[in-house]
Amino acid sequence: MGRGIVLIGYRGTGKSTVGRILAERLGRAFVDSDREIEARSGRSIRALFAESGEPSFRDREEQTLAELTDGFPGAVLATGGGAILRESNRRRLRDFGFVAWLTADPVELSRRLEADPTSLAGRPALTSAGTLAEIEQVLASRSPLYAEAADVVIPTGGQTPEQAALAVIAALGPMFDEGGA
Ligand code: S3P
Repeated sequence: MGRGIVLIGYRGTGKSTVGRILAERLGRAFVDSDREIEARSGRSIRALFAESGEPSFRDREEQTLAELTDGFPGAVLATGGGAILRESNRRRLRDFGFVAWLTADPVELSRRLEADPTSLAGRPALTSAGTLAEIEQVLASRSPLYAEAADVVIPTGGQTPEQAALAVIAALGPMFDEGGA
């Protein structure tokens, strides 16, 4: 099995949905760090933020990314939107494989998040600014970190998850043939 494939990007860019499609098309395992954190702790991400705070969540996230990248070489890995905040995670994700940054503009992201019924219940607010302002603010501060970690940028605006997955596959190059590398 060749190198892994990592999806990074802000909330609502479709990392989990696109990741599942990619894994199926490429015949690879799919792992999702947020779902893994929830399964291990028996709590929603929102509850973890509320009960223990963001720094404790970031420690769990770092630990989970380390275990998933060690345990599932060659997998498709969907990350949480803040996984790129720690330098150690950015390095680890790059070492794991090809990193695709899924993007969309803030207005589209806020529309997607508001249309997703699990979003408001399951996702903690990251600032007190409210959805669109929060997205603009957090995205502006994180964009250099996403850019630093990414091998390719995949715009998802106006694309179906299927189309975004095909764009990732097109960017992978010949060493990632469908059916396993
Ligand atoms: C976060 C994004 C979330 C989750 C947590 C923090 C962030 O992941 O990890 O709520 O800091 O952007 P998704 O991008 O899957 O929503």
